[in-house]
Formats: sequence, structure tokens, C-alpha cells
Amino acid sequence: MIYKYGAADNYEDFASGRVIYGGKGIPNFPVRLITEIFGRALEYSKKKENLTIYDPCCGGAYSLTVLGYFYGKQIGKIYGSDISEEMISHACKNLNLLSYAGLDERKTELEKLYSEFGKDSHKEAIESIDKLKERLVKDIEAECFTANCTKSLPDIKPDIIITDIPYGNLVDWGGEGELDAMMENLLKLTGDDTVLAVSMDKGQKIACEGWHRVIKQNIGKRRFEILCKKQL
Ligand SMILES: C[S@@+](CC[C@H](N)C(=O)[O-])C[C@H]1O[C@@H](n2cnc3c(N)ncnc32)[C@H](O)[C@@H]1O
Repeated sequence: MIYKYGAADNYEDFASGRVIYGGKGIPNFPVRLITEIFGRALEYSKKKENLTIYDPCCGGAYSLTVLGYFYGKQIGKIYGSDISEEMISHACKNLNLLSYAGLDERKTELEKLYSEFGKDSHKEAIESIDKLKERLVKDIEAECFTANCTKSLPDIKPDIIITDIPYGNLVDWGGEGELDAMMENLLKLTGDDTVLAVSMDKGQKIACEGWHRVIKQNIGKRRFEILCKKQL
């Protein structure tokens, strides 16, 4: 795949567990790839500014947080939801890093850890905070909540839905038909111009009833698809 938006760069400032909270069992996603997928989804969005973006399987909101740093100019509001309360508590902490005050709090926390343990990793994380602060174009409003995306979702109106559905050994999608149920549920949230970007394991297939696929791209063991609502 030729990248159009994700630069071949050093993304260590975004490493999970450095400034962005991470840890065992908290998923993450390649930075270059998520910025590429979002860039391509944006091509299909009529709206280019003040976008509301939503991840219905957000985990610890790693991807959403990264997108806030890369696409802060275009993003107005971020929503993330996950079935797991534990993930949502991580997600809230990470999305708080999309504000200057949140980054200051994280800096204080890391400085305390550095003065207590003197670890290089904490010193490097403190340096990364300053770079993230420079990158952040504004405080980004964000909300996260617990929800099963195969059952029901609150009435939010996202412009771009971007998600990385459960797969593989890390986080299993437990049961058949869940993907189809999520797709149907998401359809209820969409306006005519909503764009959906889904990343999955190559073995997973999404039913496109109501959705029109505009991009299908394999990359390594993953595939991502970009879909727009079918116009009746
Ligand atoms: C591959 S991870 C997503 C990682 C995320 N994009 C990130 O950046 O960290 C998939 C997530 O889906 C969540 N999940 C599983 N079943 C779900 C459901 N029915 N509704 C909502 N979330 C679900 C899991 O808890 C897990 O956090």
C-alpha cells in the first residue's frame, strides 16, 4: 500500500505507555496506519471542519487520542465507547490528554515518578509531553461512555466513525453476527454524509447492507474498509 497521509516517521512520542496511558491488555494501533485511514476517510467526508468523530469499540482510546494530535484542526468533538468499563476508564484518561490542562497533569505525574525512581523512560516521556503540547492545536472536547455497539447506542451524530473491531487473540469478538449487528446499529447514527472506516482481521467480513464500500485495502494481517451510507 502506498501511504498518502501517514508519513514514514518516528512515532515514539505516541508509544503506548509513554505519555498515552497503556498497559497489559489495553489495545493500541499503528500510528502511521490510523492517520492514513483517517486521511482517506476524510477524502469521502463532505464536511472537512468541526468534525464529530466516533469510535464504538474504542478500547483505551489510543487511536482517538492519536487522531486528536494529528487532525486536531479538523476535529470538533470526539466520542468513544466500549463494552468494557475498565477500557472506558483508560479511554477517559487518554482523551484528557487532548487538552493543555490534561497534558500538564500528566507532566506533573511523570515528574513525580522521575524524581521517585529516576528512570530514563519517565524522562523521555516528559520530553515527549512538550512535543505533544506543540502539536495540539486546541483543547479537543471528548466524551467516552460504556456501550455495547451490537445492542444499542445513544443518539450521537458522527461525521466520521472510525473503529478497529475486536479480532485475534488480544480481544475476541465473542459470537457470530456481532459485526453485522454493529453495522446496522451504526447505520442508525448516520446522516447521509457519514463516513465509516473499519479496520479488521483479513478473515473478517462485513455485510454492506445499507453501506456502500469505497475502499477495501489489505495491509499485513489487517484489512481496512471505508464505507459511505447508501443513498436511497
Ligand atoms: C481491537 S480493540 C480496539 C482498539 C482501539 N481502537 C484502540 O485504539 O485502542 C477492540 C475493542 O472492542 C471492545 N469490544 C468488544 N466487544 C464490544 C462490543 N460488543 N461493543 C463495544 N465494544 C466492544 C473491546 O473491549 C476492545 O476494547
